[in-house]
Amino acid sequence: MRKILRVLPGFLIAVFLCVPAFAQSPNCIICHSSIKARIKDPKGIVVDIYIDADRFSKSVHGNLDCTTCHIRFSDNPHMQPNLPVNKEILTLASEVEPKAKIEPVALAACYQCHGQIYDALKDSIHGKNIFVQKQTDGPLCLDCHGSPHYIMPKEDRTSPVNHWNILNTCGKCHNREDISKKYGLSTEVIERYKESFHGKKYILGYSNAPICTDCHGAHDIKNWDDPDSPVSWGHRVATCGKCHKGANKKFVAAITHKPVGKDNPVAYYGEKLLILLLLSVFAFTIGHVILEAYSEIRDNIFRKGKEEHHEK
Ligand code: HEC
Ligand code: HEC
Ligand code: HEC
Ligand code: HEC
Ligand code: HEC
Ligand code: HEC
Ligand code: HEC
Repeated sequence: MRKILRVLPGFLIAVFLCVPAFAQSPNCIICHSSIKARIKDPKGIVVDIYIDADRFSKSVHGNLDCTTCHIRFSDNPHMQPNLPVNKEILTLASEVEPKAKIEPVALAACYQCHGQIYDALKDSIHGKNIFVQKQTDGPLCLDCHGSPHYIMPKEDRTSPVNHWNILNTCGKCHNREDISKKYGLSTEVIERYKESFHGKKYILGYSNAPICTDCHGAHDIKNWDDPDSPVSWGHRVATCGKCHKGANKKFVAAITHKPVGKDNPVAYYGEKLLILLLLSVFAFTIGHVILEAYSEIRDNIFRKGKEEHHEK
């Protein structure tokens, strides 16, 4: 059961203005930019049905009809909700349904124009989480791009996929301990990145410092040890080599976000070796002191005794 939670008087005026026209050609934006209301969808999620007309018109999709994506929507209060939806979109809509708040068809509608990107995402580790494992933890378009109505070019500083916002956008999930634990990912990816040479430079504002997507890709992100991943051992020299001319196998082993542990042999055994070294230096020093002390005591007591004896 859907329930209008809060409606301003503007709504009534808008209904009055657009209902007559709506019966022929629906004027969605007039109505939706005057309604400040939130509704509860059948899943119990609260959605805000207000659309900022100005922001929408300035977005990359500002010249699209609402019905390009909203091919299908509820029949209340709308009078002509359903345009024919092609089979491909319908199938996709049923697959992405668990990720949708209210309109899975709209979420699948991106496929009409961004099919290649959609396919790449479906084939990525993130997409497989949704399409194969049937989970909702992996990101779909809006998890990375924000509201579908206000998408700006990635060059715009407000875009969540702008170079300077990527850390937060990926961090939304990769900072979460529950997600990392559930999928066996190292829990400190974001912290480790921030501590790295790259992260420090990035935070200082150097635009040539790599951020997540420079090494992992965006829509086609794979498990790091998948041979198709740009950071797999087979491709890593090329990936680092984009910026580090003459990078070789030894150089590219320098980067890891893993905390020091058995998965990270170089750092792990390196650290163990260091501890061993320290301990042996320690043991040697203490041993030395004890031996020294012993020889002193021996000299003082026994030798003295002997010497005294000799002197006698
Ligand atoms: C007469 C005003 C009015 C017009 C015109 C209008 N809407 Fe709505 N719309 C509403 C109201 C009110 C709701 C909340 C209804 C509810 O409780 O589900 C809503 C809900 C929605 C929703 C979210 C929930 C759902 O049911 O899917 C979508 C999507 C939507 N409208 C799209 C559109 C599109 C696309 C158009 C143009 C073809 C349009 N609307 C035209 C008033 C309007
Ligand atoms: C580029 C595709 C696209 C266009 C164009 C578009 N929408 Fe949406 N809209 C979506 C998607 C995707 C959702 C979220 C679906 C979900 O998660 O259930 C959505 C959700 C909504 C909702 C539910 C509340 C919300 O924000 O999640 C309303 C209401 C709505 N759209 C109205 C409109 C109106 C009115 C227009 C035209 C001014 C419009 N949309 C244009 C893709 C679009
Ligand atoms: C009717 C075709 C169409 C549909 C449907 C559509 N888009 Fe787009 N999209 C475009 C066009 C055209 C551009 C602008 C391309 C440009 O300016 O280079 C664009 C640009 C984008 C951009 C790029 C912004 C940038 O960085 O330049 C994103 C992200 C995007 N769309 C996401 C979506 C999502 C998510 C959906 C589904 C909710 C969707 N699009 C649905 C046509 C569409
Ligand atoms: C994991 C996060 C993530 C997801 C999920 C995601 N995108 Fe993107 N998208 C990005 C990033 C990051 C960029 C900017 C890429 C760059 O700077 O090269 C981008 C760029 C784009 C562009 C601009 C063209 C381009 O390649 O630069 C379009 C269009 C787009 N995305 C559409 C989509 C659509 C449609 C979906 C859902 C099928 C989607 N994205 C899902 C992160 C994501
Ligand atoms: C300089 C290249 C580079 C950058 C930048 C980078 N990564 Fe990685 N990432 C790697 C490499 C190489 C691996 C391979 C595994 C390892 O040694 O940690 C990896 C592994 C991962 C893993 C799997 C780790 C595990 O142990 O399960 C995740 C998740 C990840 N990266 C996310 C991110 C995120 C999020 C960002 C941005 C904050 C990021 N990466 C930035 C190169 C990079
Ligand atoms: C909505 C949450 C979410 C967002 C946003 C997100 N991820 Fe993920 N990511 C996941 C989940 C969940 C997995 C594990 C999926 C699985 O194994 O089924 C994952 C897996 C990964 C892996 C594979 C780790 C490995 O084992 O090697 C990498 C790399 C990665 N993400 C990078 C990124 C980058 C880069 C971004 C930002 C552009 C990003 N993610 C944004 C949820 C997210
Ligand atoms: C987008 C470009 C870019 C990519 C891709 C990149 N780096 Fe870097 N890297 C930089 C920049 C910029 C610095 C900082 C250089 C400085 O301070 O002089 C840096 C610094 C470093 C340093 C520290 C000092 C030095 O210059 O030797 C190491 C080690 C390093 N990167 C390793 C890697 C590895 C390994 C990869 C691949 C997994 C990689 N980088 C990928 C741009 C990049």
